[in-house]
Amino acid sequence: MKRIFSGMQPTGNLHLGNYLGALKNWVKLQDDYECFYCVVDLHAITLPQDPEALRRASREVACAYIASGIDTNKSSLIVQSMMPAHTELAWILGSKVPLGWLNRMTQFKDKAGKDAGKQLLGLYSYPVLMAADILAYKATHVPVGEDQKQHVELTRDIAIAFNNTYGEIFPIPEPLIMGEATRVMSLRDGKKKMSKSDESDYSRINMTDDADTIMLKIRKAKTDPEPLPETAKELESRPEADNLITIYASLADTTVAEVLKSHAGEQFSTFKKDLADLAISKLIPITNRMRELMADPAEIDAILKKGADKANALTQKTLREVKDRVGFL
Ligand code: TYM
Repeated sequence: MKRIFSGMQPTGNLHLGNYLGALKNWVKLQDDYECFYCVVDLHAITLPQDPEALRRASREVACAYIASGIDTNKSSLIVQSMMPAHTELAWILGSKVPLGWLNRMTQFKDKAGKDAGKQLLGLYSYPVLMAADILAYKATHVPVGEDQKQHVELTRDIAIAFNNTYGEIFPIPEPLIMGEATRVMSLRDGKKKMSKSDESDYSRINMTDDADTIMLKIRKAKTDPEPLPETAKELESRPEADNLITIYASLADTTVAEVLKSHAGEQFSTFKKDLADLAISKLIPITNRMRELMADPAEIDAILKKGADKANALTQKTLREVKDRVGFL
């Protein structure tokens, strides 16, 4: 049985990086795997947060999943805090994880900056909770963007160590890093990842942006004075150009090489118009559908309840097995 677990944090707006790096791929995987797609609200409280905003964002992320094409008859939509096994398993796994493994996590180092001593324990132990998310489902595959690869690798190490100590219990999950846009970069700086936490809203396209905003953000996106080259090799020293062409390829479901074949020699002023039209045609129907879904929170909550029932049955079974192996009464 091939099983998928993946999730997104309900912090701020989802953006084009979340969509192209993860969500778009999740939709494709639904026919071949048993899928659990999670709103990871427990992860979202590891940074300062507002309760009302969290409640709204959790529903909004669920709506984004459905609006993007997650079919709730095929895949389970779940909210992390509704399944107690995630946190219980996280404690058990965390009791076995050497600090050295966590000290290697680049995401913690990036988020904590120089002031690691002032950060919350939850931000530090966050990757253990992520491992528990995945292992509670005995997931075999984890579709994520490039930035989460290290966390999935840590999950593999944790699973291997646990199996070695207590006997085979967890499958070793594989990261699935798919498509052209595995790391979408900021529209203002091609060397920085597109992220929810960037101060400049012009650095990203949010999944709630309207058509005019998308058009404006792409028009203002940083580029260089050269036209589009003929080969991808020539993009290596042009991160902003590379990023826009990669976004185009991913939105159009094609490759960078194909985009260059049809657009080589074009000025970016022209290409950006095409890119904006393409982005609008792909994203605005999703945005509109999200808005419709958000108007009926009771319906969303019912879908999440159904997902939680299925997920609780599965994860409690895993947890029981783990507890037996560890020696709990
Ligand atoms: P999060 O919420 O930061 O991001 C959700 C997904 O979007 C991908 N992503 C990107 N892909 C390409 N380019 C970008 N600029 C970009 N920004 C984000 C992420 O790689 C991710 O796939 N720790 C995770 C959430 C999580 C999780 C899990 C994921 C918690 N438990 C278990 C998988 C399995 C996170 O913070 O993702």
